[in-house]
Amino acid sequence: MSKPRPDHEPDPAERTPNGSSLTLEARGLRRSFTLGDGSELEVLRGVDLSVGTGEAVSIVGASGTGKSTLLHVLGALDRPTSGELFLGGRTITGRSGRELARLRNQFVGFVFQFHHLLREFTALENVMMPRLIDGSPRAEAEARARELLEAVGLSPRLGHKPWQLSGGEQQRVAVARALANEPVVLLADEPSGNLDARTSEALHDLLFRIREERELSLVLVTHNRELAARADRTLLLTEGVLEPTQISPEEPWSAKTADQPTP
Ligand SMILES: Nc1ncnc2c1ncn2[C@@H]1O[C@H](COP(=O)(O)OP(=O)(O)O)[C@@H](O)[C@H]1O
Ligand SMILES: [Mg+2]
Repeated sequence: MSKPRPDHEPDPAERTPNGSSLTLEARGLRRSFTLGDGSELEVLRGVDLSVGTGEAVSIVGASGTGKSTLLHVLGALDRPTSGELFLGGRTITGRSGRELARLRNQFVGFVFQFHHLLREFTALENVMMPRLIDGSPRAEAEARARELLEAVGLSPRLGHKPWQLSGGEQQRVAVARALANEPVVLLADEPSGNLDARTSEALHDLLFRIREERELSLVLVTHNRELAARADRTLLLTEGVLEPTQISPEEPWSAKTADQPTP
């Protein structure tokens, strides 16, 4: 298992007020969008969420309820309109754009429905990228990328460009890239939304194996019942807030959560 880098140690002054080892804590998060006609669209209306170290939480909800918006705010890709966010024991809200980018690189790995790999670069180079951007020496970034691609079972594909890989392989490269900076939390937005059933299952196995090996926290937005049910708990995003819900891998979706993957 990889060791957290020393700079992952929370600064005692910045520890979450309850002093716990929570990886991620959100309090009263709101996010509204101002539309073209000047009206406000309130998507998140006071989201509270605490995710412990190594905990896996799945988030379900109908299309358009704000799941992607929430994940972007939780991962500091987007700012909440109000509310507080703590990642790895650091206060995230109220930071400059530069600081946000740094904290995001340090603490968060993202996996999206579509891999977002750079098509001109090989699998190895794609996985090296976050480390290079972070200022790591090339040799170190490469060694780390090789190790991660091996961990996701892609050692024989290091020199492949994304378009030379299958959908499942592309997502595995995306997972390896998300781990490049040794995040404390992996946020996944419909990671298997674009894969067939068998490939989805392999990806889900990978995500949970990695969680186990690296004591990573997982926050998974998914329409996949099997994946949602594998998490330690499931939350339903409805009316802009999260509420606990139960998902069984066998039972069909309830009408409330029934949905098609968004494009
Ligand atoms: N940048 C934006 N500007 C205006 N409206 C947005 C923006 N991003 C998302 N929305 C709206 O917010 C709602 C939630 O979107 P999203 O988070 O993508 O939902 P989900 O991921 O649950 O399908 C939708 O109605 C969407 O149109
Ligand atoms: Mg979405």
